[in-house]
Amino acid sequence: MTGIVAEDVDTYVDRLANRGDSVLAEVEREGRTEGWPIVGAAEGSLLHILARSLGARRILELGTAIGYSGTWLARALPSGGELLTVEADPKTAERARRTFERTGVADRVSILIGLAEDVLADLAGPFDLIFNDIDKEAYPAVLDPCIRRIRVGGLLVTDNVLWSGEVARAGRSRETKAIRAYNERLARDPRMIASILPLRDGVSVAVKVRE
Ligand SMILES: C[S@@+](CC[C@H](N)C(=O)[O-])C[C@H]1O[C@@H](n2cnc3c(N)ncnc32)[C@H](O)[C@@H]1O
Repeated sequence: MTGIVAEDVDTYVDRLANRGDSVLAEVEREGRTEGWPIVGAAEGSLLHILARSLGARRILELGTAIGYSGTWLARALPSGGELLTVEADPKTAERARRTFERTGVADRVSILIGLAEDVLADLAGPFDLIFNDIDKEAYPAVLDPCIRRIRVGGLLVTDNVLWSGEVARAGRSRETKAIRAYNERLARDPRMIASILPLRDGVSVAVKVRE
């Protein structure tokens, strides 16, 4: 629980969330049991809804972890679509590779190992959707590279943008300052229209309106 909305409301939203099939529900259970910071079913479903309603064919994810949110995104792709997902830790990437096999999306997913800040430099756009869920201190560094790689009409979706509400208070941690800078730059960027949903730890959804 993150403290953004009342705990009983958070629990209610989670209880009603679509959890995908039994394999994905099992990955979610494993993630929770082992303490992985995965997005959970309500946000996973949201990612799927956004990607599917956009008709996304090329998606980039920054922060793969065990492949939970990646599976929600990959399952929204039409035949021939692709998800590129970036993970800094090779052992975690190997775990994600096994998840993508289990959830039946391995044929459309490529895992890129390295820091998102570095991988982005060698990655050409355009993407229909980019989902950013890496270490929070790295958020400002990837913002402009992400925006440049999204097509007009495409989406930048970012997790943890309310950081337990700390961004709105006097929070001075490095993560809080980084997320605050990211949110403010994104809100002012003339290429984007952004809005923050108070789901879980705060999810920012931004559409690119011009180059
Ligand atoms: C919050 S978890 C991602 C959870 C995942 N999106 C999900 O919900 O299933 C963040 C992951 O990103 C990786 N990571 C953190 N900072 C990174 C960076 N700068 N570049 C690439 N990967 C990073 C971490 O190793 C971790 O596995």
